[in-house]
Amino acid sequence: MKPPRTPRRRFMLSAPVRHRPVAADPAARAPTSGDADALGALLLEAYRGTVDDDGETLVEACRLARALFAGLSGVPMWAVSEVTEREGRLVSATIVTLWQDTPLVAQLVTAPDWQRRGLARAGLQRAMNRMAAGDEAVVRLVVTQGNAPAEALYESLGFRPEARPPFSSA
Ligand SMILES: CC(C)(COP(=O)(O)OP(=O)(O)OC[C@H]1O[C@@H](n2cnc3c(N)ncnc32)[C@H](O)[C@@H]1OP(=O)(O)O)[C@@H](O)C(=O)NCCC(=O)NCCS
Repeated sequence: MKPPRTPRRRFMLSAPVRHRPVAADPAARAPTSGDADALGALLLEAYRGTVDDDGETLVEACRLARALFAGLSGVPMWAVSEVTEREGRLVSATIVTLWQDTPLVAQLVTAPDWQRRGLARAGLQRAMNRMAAGDEAVVRLVVTQGNAPAEALYESLGFRPEARPPFSSA
């Protein structure tokens, strides 16, 4: 029998929306609802083996992606969000929603074979630049304690924990 999983602690972070120079990526574009299944596949492979891996199936990951696009974490900000393709495949995504009147980075993922090449940093920065152009002052997200790659990226972009208790989940 599997031992019970240690509860995860998730923290809400926020950052001032700051415009910073970042290269354009001709293969980055606004997502559409038609990207849901490709995003589901990307979520599945990106989270596999991480602290956030719950052993989901492809069907469950696609369901989550469709729910995200349907408003699960707030109304998608399609024109702020982006997906990036390489070799005809979706390899990175920055999905921003409007949650409690503030932009929320609801998903930030890069496929394992495309990680550490600057895709997530560039995608999130371009999204923040579009937020800045839309006069948004603050952006939020939720991160699981121990997600070292994400924590390092967010800290470098100015995200800090909000003064509110962590969310916990098994
Ligand atoms: C977090 C994640 C999106 C980063 O994607 P990426 O495209 O590899 O990130 P980048 O190449 O743009 O790297 C940006 C920064 O993240 C940090 N980082 C990325 N991978 C890291 C790793 N393996 N270890 C430590 N830091 C890492 C670094 O600070 C890096 O900046 P640097 O290259 O200047 O040192 C990716 O690891 C991922 O998809 N993880 C699984 C999904 C997830 O946890 N998403 C975040 C949910 S809150």
